[in-house]
Order: sequence, then C-alpha cells, then structure tokens
Amino acid sequence: MSDTSQGKNATFTLTDNRNGKSYELPVMDASVGPSVIDVRKLYAETDCFTYDPGFTSTGSCESKITYIDGDLGVLLYRGIPIQELAEHSDFMEVCYLLLYGELPTAAQKKKFETSITYHTMLHEQLAYFFRGFRRDAHPMAVMCGVVGALSAFYHDSTDINDPHHRMIASYRLIAKMPTIAAWAYKYSLGQPFIYPRNELSYAENFLHMMYSTPCEEYRVSPVLARAMDRILTLHADHEQNASTSTVRLAGSSGANPFACISAGIASLWGPAHGGANEAVLNMLAEIGHKDNIPTFIKKAKDKDDPFRLMGFGHRVYKNMDPRANVMRQSCHEVLAELGIEDEPLLDLAMELERIALEDDYFVQRKLFPNVDFYSGIIFKAMGIPTSMFTVLFAVARTVGWVAQWNEMIEDPSQKIGRPRQLYTGYTERSYVPIDKR
Ligand code: SDX
Repeated sequence: MSDTSQGKNATFTLTDNRNGKSYELPVMDASVGPSVIDVRKLYAETDCFTYDPGFTSTGSCESKITYIDGDLGVLLYRGIPIQELAEHSDFMEVCYLLLYGELPTAAQKKKFETSITYHTMLHEQLAYFFRGFRRDAHPMAVMCGVVGALSAFYHDSTDINDPHHRMIASYRLIAKMPTIAAWAYKYSLGQPFIYPRNELSYAENFLHMMYSTPCEEYRVSPVLARAMDRILTLHADHEQNASTSTVRLAGSSGANPFACISAGIASLWGPAHGGANEAVLNMLAEIGHKDNIPTFIKKAKDKDDPFRLMGFGHRVYKNMDPRANVMRQSCHEVLAELGIEDEPLLDLAMELERIALEDDYFVQRKLFPNVDFYSGIIFKAMGIPTSMFTVLFAVARTVGWVAQWNEMIEDPSQKIGRPRQLYTGYTERSYVPIDKR
C-alpha cells in the first residue's frame, strides 16, 4: 500500500454486543473519494465475515486508474475528466494513459500507435475458429470463444509474472479485438474477412474491416471514424464494474490474460451490464411510439414485472452518467453528418428520458440515463447491427480490462480472490440409503 493510502492511522472501533469485545479496524484514506475500513484481519479477530451481496459497500482493491463520483457525475481516467478526453484526445492516447498513467509525448504516442498497428493481424489458423460457429451465432459468443482461443496461439506472452510478457499480451489484445469483432460481423454476413490496413488509425481500421469488401474501394468517413474513436474513449474503463471485477478475479488465480479477457467479455454480455446497449434498442423498438411510453414506464415501476427501463440507472451514478451527456451530443452530430434529419428512435429516446426524469419513481431512486442509453442510437445510425453493440463495448473496454489486470498483478497485496459466505443450509446430517427415503 502506498504511504498516501495509510492516512493518519485513523481507525474504526467495532464493538461486538454479544460479548462486549471491541476491535480497532484501520481506516485507509483515498486521494479523492471514500476512505476504506481495512477488514482483512476481521475474520481472524472476530470469527465473523462481512456480508455485502453485490459488493455495494466493498472496495475490492486499491487502484490508481479510474475514479468515479456517482453523486457528482464525475469520471476521471488517471485524473483527467472524461469530457476533456472525449473532446481533445483520441483512443490511442487514452489507451496509453490508462496503461501507463500519463499522457504520452508525441514520440511515445507514435511508438505506441505503431506497436498496436503491427499487432492487428490475426494468426491465419484463427480464421478456422470462426468457421466452427453457425453464421447466426451471437457475435458476443464468437468473441468469447475466439479471444479465449488466443491463449493457444501466444505461448510467448503468457508468463504473467514477466512484465514484458504482460505488456505484449496487453498490446495484442488491444490490437486484435477490432479485427476479431469485424471478422465476427463479416462471418455473420457470409462476406470474406477484411485484413487490417497499417496506414489507417485504430477507429478507421475498425470501420474498414467492418464495411470494406474486396469488390470496391471503401473510403472511411472521417466523421464516423471520429465518432467511433470518441465512443471507444467513453467506454474504455470504468473502475471495478462487473466485467472488470471478473477479469481481476480470473487473473488473481494466475490464469493467462487471454482467458481472463474472455471471461470479462462473458460478464459484459449480460443485459444488466454491457448488453444494455443492445437491450435499449430492442426496448425502443418494442415501445414503438411515444404514446406507448407511459405503459412502459408503468411496467418499469411494477415490482411484479421484471421489465427494467434499459439504459437507465447505475450502481454508482446517482446523477447523469457523464458519458451519456457526451454520447447524446455525439448522437446529434453523427445524425447531422449523415444527413439523418428525422431519427424516430432518437426522438423516442429523448421523450422517454424527459418523461422518466419527471417521474417521482425515477427521481427518488436517482435513476438517470447511463452510457448505454444513447450509444445504441449512434451505432444504429452508423449502420452497425444491434447484435454488434456489446461487441463494440468489449472492443473499447479491453484496454481498461488489461490496465486493471496489470495493476492487480503488480499490486504487492494482491492474493487469489476467494470470498466467503453466510451459510444457511443444513447442518451436518447422515446419508440415508435410497430404500430408506
Ligand atoms: C453498465 O458498473 C458499471 O460501471 C457498469 C458500466 C460500465 O461502464 O462498466 O457503467 C456499464 O453496465 C451501465 C448499466 C447498464 N444497465 C442497464 O441500463 C440495465 C438497466 N439498469 C438496471 O438493471 C440497474 O439500474 C443496474 C443493474 C444498472 C444497477 O442496479 P443496482 O445498482 O443493483 O440498483 P437496484 O437494482 O438495487 O435498483 C435500485 C432501485 C430498485 O427499486 P427498489 O427496490 O428500490 O424499489 O431502482 C430500481 C430497482 O427496481 N431500478 C430500476 C432500474 N434500475 C434500478 N427500475 C426501473 N428501471 C431501471 N432501469
């Protein structure tokens, strides 16, 4: 633990009313945001576990990468506000910032970008992995399988205790995700795989591999490339969310980075997490017209109805997700650039946001639009199929996952993750032979 996290040796006193015993638990201070109560010795001293399903009040690690203030709607990557990075930076620079902790010099950026560019190709054998899937397989299933299979190809970068191996694997994952994602899309269309081109930027290359065909020259729209680059930045990292925690937990056993990222992709797929962007579009299609909004708002509030307003609410943000604001602004820019004057889905989404934010149920629970609420509308306007929305989220989040994975391995206090439980099952009882049951 760094000195700044030790604070002023403050403690929390815990008293067990069952026996009157008191325990002093150290408090560790953050550089910004909540302090933590260090409970590592709690079980040894009290014979009790803490209990926190969903980890609503639990800090699982110390990190210097991303800071979120849910009440103020603040998101910082290595201290820099997401709004400034979305406006002034680009995704390759943000990748460098998340991995190394500082913005790169021009020379560092050029070297990093070149390294990433020269890892974008896939081993030719990997193309055969795609052919094992049905053409209509969900692309997230393909991503889980193909990314996990990278472990079988890169034995030279799976010694997780070697910083050089870790960085090669990190670069390979960041570089190859757009290629794997684009090939999953091409495979679903029955079109040939398009190879990356080294003269294109990261976002341009991704759009090129998604939409180019061998039959004609495909020119990447600079506006769409800029919009894609900004969307990748907005999704790059987000503290200890479900998929990042999955990557950290998988990595804590010493599993290789490709298998860990595959596990992160699987977790991101859930509709409560990264799968929400796809679910938002499906929800908007189901609502169909603004006259139907009250019916769906009612369903969202009905405890007996599993329906949730997709793209709304967040475990941490109890204010507007700052990424949603940037995304809404990008929405208008992309639609204008594409000459799409009338996008009924955007009108419907904005009307849904307006009505929800005036409804006591959402106001009292501080349920605001999150990053997934508008992203799907941009993706749709860019011609990206709904089933590919969460794939794009995974492409962007890979840098966050590998940055957090590296930080976990380099953390001297990290151990294999092994939570305990509150056991309320049977106490010991004897086996009953089947003829006695
Ligand atoms: C992402 O963690 C991250 O950082 C994730 C992410 C990232 O970048 O990695 O930001 C990306 O996953 C964004 C979230 C995308 N998910 C959705 O949009 C799905 C819809 N949202 C909900 O499923 C929900 O809001 C969660 C899962 C996002 C958060 O759930 P929590 O924190 O567990 O909150 P909760 O379920 O305890 O909700 C509190 C109350 C409940 O009502 P009460 O029991 O208090 O009466 O709010 C209600 C919930 O029923 N509620 C909703 C709601 N979200 C919460 N009611 C209707 N619609 C919703 N969307």
